[in-house]
Amino acid sequence: MILKPDSGIRLTTQMLWEGQRGMDVQADSIAELPFVRAFPLRTADARDRRLADAMGLLMRGLGGLICQTNASRADLMAVVGFLTEVGEACDNKRQEWVLLADVLGLTTAIECYNAPRPEGATPNTMTGPFYRPGAPVRGEGETISLDGVGTPLIFAATVADLNGQGIEGAAVEVWQANARGMYENQEPDLQPEFNLRGTYRSGPGGRLTIRSVKPAGYAIPADGPVGRLMERLGLGTMRPAHLHFRIHAAGFQTLTTHVFDREDPAIDRDPLFAVHDALLADFRPDGAGWTTDFRFVLARSIPDAKSS
Ligand code: BEZ
Ligand code: FE
Repeated sequence: MILKPDSGIRLTTQMLWEGQRGMDVQADSIAELPFVRAFPLRTADARDRRLADAMGLLMRGLGGLICQTNASRADLMAVVGFLTEVGEACDNKRQEWVLLADVLGLTTAIECYNAPRPEGATPNTMTGPFYRPGAPVRGEGETISLDGVGTPLIFAATVADLNGQGIEGAAVEVWQANARGMYENQEPDLQPEFNLRGTYRSGPGGRLTIRSVKPAGYAIPADGPVGRLMERLGLGTMRPAHLHFRIHAAGFQTLTTHVFDREDPAIDRDPLFAVHDALLADFRPDGAGWTTDFRFVLARSIPDAKSS
């Protein structure tokens, strides 16, 4: 196709920008910004339509951001510097870009959007970087603490459907940090392999008992550009204490979720935005340890659904 000439757009650049400074910017005037107008025209024949549309929306959002923040050249260079540092912080053990997506709430937003659950079902959350498939099978009431370090925890779980019927035979994968807030695969020299990980089966009534130690909250990696960003924003990097679960049962959508300690001091400021009222559990002192219970409610599979 023949592109419409955009010289007319270029001519209006100065005029448009002058009218756009400050916070009071209308969406339709952002749409008039030269590059916002030109981009969809220039990409009309793009091989990847979805990508071109997404980039057009991104440019429109960035145009609005420039106007609303009175962005300067120095601001642009600061952003370029920050993104460069994020890239430089990545290696085969560390993914600072994923961390950035996490702290911007993008990972949680994608999860909510792609794995919505009906009212009454347990919300799905991100998997996170510490999941390992193939955690050893554990019998009812068996412990996942292989080193015995920490304060004992008994986690009484029930897996049920939306009608309140227990689901027997569900596979319940659990993984958690230890009492120092460290996962087994973060310190392979200090913790036994598969420490604090296991796969249980729900029994009659959908019930199962996990024996473990009480997990501690932990900080997301704060020694890189994302950590420095959080610091400048006055945001904490501590995640509230939690256990992770992935539950599979025939005929139901797989549930990946967290269960959080309601009393954790960081419960209202999870840097990854994964906390949800329906994911809070009460950890009660019990003898020399702690006990808690939690009901996981699974939603039925959607025929032909692409995601769980
Ligand atoms: C986690 O809870 O294991 C986690 C999730 C995302 C980023 C960092 C940690
Ligand atoms: Fe975690």
